[in-house]
Amino acid sequence: MGNLGKGAYGKVVLAKKGGKLYAIKQIEKKKLAKECKEYQAFVEKELLRKINHPGIIKLVKCYQEPKHLNYVLDYCHGGDFTTFLRFNYKHFTNDMRRFYIAEIVNVLEFLHGVGITHRDLKPENIMLSKDGHLKLIDFGTAEITRCTILDQKFKDDIEKQKKAVA
Ligand SMILES: Nc1ncnc2c1ncn2[C@@H]1O[C@H](COP(=O)(O)OP(=O)(O)OP(=O)(O)O)[C@@H](O)[C@H]1O
Ligand SMILES: [Mg+2]
Repeated sequence: MGNLGKGAYGKVVLAKKGGKLYAIKQIEKKKLAKECKEYQAFVEKELLRKINHPGIIKLVKCYQEPKHLNYVLDYCHGGDFTTFLRFNYKHFTNDMRRFYIAEIVNVLEFLHGVGITHRDLKPENIMLSKDGHLKLIDFGTAEITRCTILDQKFKDDIEKQKKAVA
């Protein structure tokens, strides 16, 4: 149904099922493999599968195709925060500033509380939901060593993969 965004390893497309819109992050396996960055996609999938927080994008399901890993995400109707800032920043009131800062701090407190560092916090990775709340996306570069919601075996495997390509 059209492109929503493009990244280093693929793109995000809009899809509709049962009258509901979704954003599908399509990651090119070949591009990941070329840079030995498969672990980044595993980290993103595993974190999004385990996290349940209103300020973080929800992973509905994931599936593979021969050339792609597909992550089906809830669609954020409000678009990305970069575009939002570009058009609205001049009209921000102090209440709006406080609201968005509080939403970001709330998510970061939650993440740091469970030992996750996002490491790529920027307006392009913050989306707006239909009701105007912020949703953090893009967990491919998150640091998970101290993460308490992932299995130790998963974290050990990721560490091994990271060391192998370092
Ligand atoms: N759930 C969503 N709803 C609407 N748009 C989305 C959603 N997820 C991602 N996008 C759009 O796709 C873009 C890329 O998504 P994401 O940051 O997850 O991919 P990426 O490949 O890691 O990109 P990069 O590494 O360049 O940041 C976002 O900046 C946003 O514009
Ligand atoms: Mg991104």
